Amino acid sequence: MKPIIKSFLFSAMILFTAENTIAQNMSVKMTQKNDPKWWKEAVVYQIYPRSFKDSDGDGVGDLKGIISKLDYVKSLGIDAVWLNPIYTSPNDDNGYDISNYREIMKDFGTMEDFDLLLKEMHKRGIKLVMDLVVNHSSDEHEWFKQSRSSRDNKYRDYYHWWPAEKGKPPYRWSFFDVNSDAWKYDGQTNSYYLHYFSQKQPDLNWENPKVRYEVYDMMKFWLDKGIDGFRMDAFQFASKDTTWPELPKGYEKNIIKYYGVGPHLHEYLQEMNREVFSKYDIMTVAEGAGSSPEDAMQFVDPDRKELNMAYHFESVDIGKHLKDFGLVKYKEIFSRYDEAFKNKGWLSIFLANHDQPRMVSKFGNDTPEFREISSKMLSTFVMTMRGTPYYYYGDELGMDNIRFNSIEDYKDVDTRNKYIGLKNKGGDLQAFLEQQKQTSRENGRTPFQWDTTQNAGFTTGTPWLKVNPNYKTVNAEAQEKDPNSTLNYFRKLVKLRKQEPAFVYGKYTLLDKENPNIYAYTRDLNGKKFLVLLNFSDKDANYNIGFSTHKSKIILGNYKSRKGIKANILQPYEAQIIELK
Ligand code: GLC
Repeated sequence: MKPIIKSFLFSAMILFTAENTIAQNMSVKMTQKNDPKWWKEAVVYQIYPRSFKDSDGDGVGDLKGIISKLDYVKSLGIDAVWLNPIYTSPNDDNGYDISNYREIMKDFGTMEDFDLLLKEMHKRGIKLVMDLVVNHSSDEHEWFKQSRSSRDNKYRDYYHWWPAEKGKPPYRWSFFDVNSDAWKYDGQTNSYYLHYFSQKQPDLNWENPKVRYEVYDMMKFWLDKGIDGFRMDAFQFASKDTTWPELPKGYEKNIIKYYGVGPHLHEYLQEMNREVFSKYDIMTVAEGAGSSPEDAMQFVDPDRKELNMAYHFESVDIGKHLKDFGLVKYKEIFSRYDEAFKNKGWLSIFLANHDQPRMVSKFGNDTPEFREISSKMLSTFVMTMRGTPYYYYGDELGMDNIRFNSIEDYKDVDTRNKYIGLKNKGGDLQAFLEQQKQTSRENGRTPFQWDTTQNAGFTTGTPWLKVNPNYKTVNAEAQEKDPNSTLNYFRKLVKLRKQEPAFVYGKYTLLDKENPNIYAYTRDLNGKKFLVLLNFSDKDANYNIGFSTHKSKIILGNYKSRKGIKANILQPYEAQIIELK
């Protein structure tokens, strides 16, 4: 057999044999108690379907568009794609308000397109993780239409209702409501319904077993098509304390604490695991998992049989920009979570997603001088930490915040409703718009920048959201040709992570803890040890770490010319991965 064919077969074997993990194939003896699993070794690439590639010129990305770019996706070296919701939806919250869980949104295509997408992905060895949005549905879902029609409708208890004759319900805070009020009065039955998100996203009543079993059936519908997992949207909010106690003073400072882990949440997750997950070899990830490492562990402790892994939000919720909260705090958060999960349980590592500004604008530096170099540094971080990396489309190009000037440019229900709420209260709208330039979710939702043609090659029509004007210089086509581009650097990182199990399973040790500019840590497994040095500042910075520079070798870095590992200096936003000997 020709060596190239042999090695292809070898990697195909690894990809398709779910429990046949890199660690096992390479006969790596695990020093940690964490068992090897394919989903721990996977690198996940998140595609925001509205903004990836439009195939029919209507300005909205679609499934056929994604299919046409699968070779690009494959070329990144990633293992799985997480797709934001593609189900039928009136799009109050871009698909997170689902009116039919078993249909594809018309903007995105048809079920035939979906089946083809899945087939083409699997053909390339890419797994597909779907978004599961079942804390709430759309108010245009048949269940809700029925539920609101009369108090004795059989779907009434699919949602949370409060009869108006009992007075106003105890206040609940809403993420997207203009008045931040999660109870909305509905005249049809003289009652209030609950919506933690927008008024068009009524919360499903998980106390009702009929709701739960409807959801499990729907999950099986997709799993039987062959999808490879679910990202559980906002599921931590599914269980409510239906005695509806008053929220304590100061609740808004840690809303997750009061909303995050309701009284029956873990019962529901265990039931879901029994009824659904345990019957398939899939990956499951909780979006949000309470407000501490201890909370998060409860979701993913394998002995509890709930989910595989969780995102925690402490590292993205700490503030607007790294400059505001500082690197020492940032290191403390990642290190505290790693410590709690070093023996069991599993987390995901991410710096951005569709609810966040762009990674480089928040944690790096998106000025022309440093955009590329700091993007590479941040990618180095994501790809060398313990946890499954979730990498957001466009970050491989160093895409950055668009910073809209006018409210008219924003489509997001979150920004628009906050703006209206503030306007009604006579607040400072200019200050709000300035702040949104840093924090708005839409900074991270602009169309993918494929090339220098009109609209960055995303669409031949009018894009649903403006394209970042820097696409003439920041685009995939240009970066393909440049061996030192952020794109090609990202590919090298993914390859390295796949080659060295130490980056997946290895012990993480933080070094030079109080250094305000440099994040330094080692990852080691079975005698192999790597030192990762990352300068998060725009100046040369020193580190104070003793290691033998004699035989140690920089195996990957983002600078061509280095000051050398003997100097104990990193240049602005420099990243080095050093194999220690
Ligand atoms: C999750 C999603 C977000 C959505 C919200 C309501 O946080 O990531 O985009 O708006 O849930 O579904």
